[in-house]
Amino acid sequence: MEKNTTRRSFLSSSAKATLAITASLAAGSTLMEACGTPRVAYGATGIQTGFGQDPLPYSYSALEKAIDAMTMEIHYTKHAAGYATNLADAAKAENVDTSKPLEDVLTRISKYSTKMRNNAGGHYNHELFWKSMSPNSTEKPAGKLLAAIEQSFNSFDSFKTQFGDAGKNRFGSGWAWLFIDGDKKLRIGSTPNQDNPLMDVSDIKGLPVLGLDVWEHAYYLRYQNKRPDYITNWWKVVDWGYVQTRFDRLS
Ligand SMILES: [Fe+2]
Repeated sequence: MEKNTTRRSFLSSSAKATLAITASLAAGSTLMEACGTPRVAYGATGIQTGFGQDPLPYSYSALEKAIDAMTMEIHYTKHAAGYATNLADAAKAENVDTSKPLEDVLTRISKYSTKMRNNAGGHYNHELFWKSMSPNSTEKPAGKLLAAIEQSFNSFDSFKTQFGDAGKNRFGSGWAWLFIDGDKKLRIGSTPNQDNPLMDVSDIKGLPVLGLDVWEHAYYLRYQNKRPDYITNWWKVVDWGYVQTRFDRLS
């Protein structure tokens, strides 16, 4: 009798959970639970990514202390715009509902074409990258994020070294990441090309908090082959306020 009651109560709570998930998805949220990625209803975070390019939140010359104006202009209007255009083409060809968050596609990217993988990743990564920079950088995080970084990497300086190394050691083109893994721990890693930790095909999996573009198109005009110098200067323009917002909403 007691067993039956327990079973009935399990079925009841299971049915409730299914209804909650269905309602959440119907409301446009994305539920990510595959491959160790923490569950996040992106529709409710306020930081989900759309399929179109958002306006750059500063002028092309605003980040001169790290990135020159011509690089910013070419990067935003040519490279990143190209990913957005090609993503729109791929979404149309593959019947993707572009009113839903792009994260919904990224977490199931293995189901789509290589064109979708390259351009959905390229668009998502750059949208995050632009928003993660500001001419008014505090050059250091604060609050819960700083505490979590110090706990995970011993110190903020040690974190910068490890993150910088992830970017410097990425062979060819790719990204360095700070992300939250399936155990809700902060991790550092890197991905090739335009992959990112949200993708079910990625070696590192989790929720991106901060990403650094280490493709040559991001730095070559000023830094030529000196990627480490670009990374050293990039810290001067990181918008820790935005990064903290992402961490607060995703952790
Ligand atoms: Fe780029």
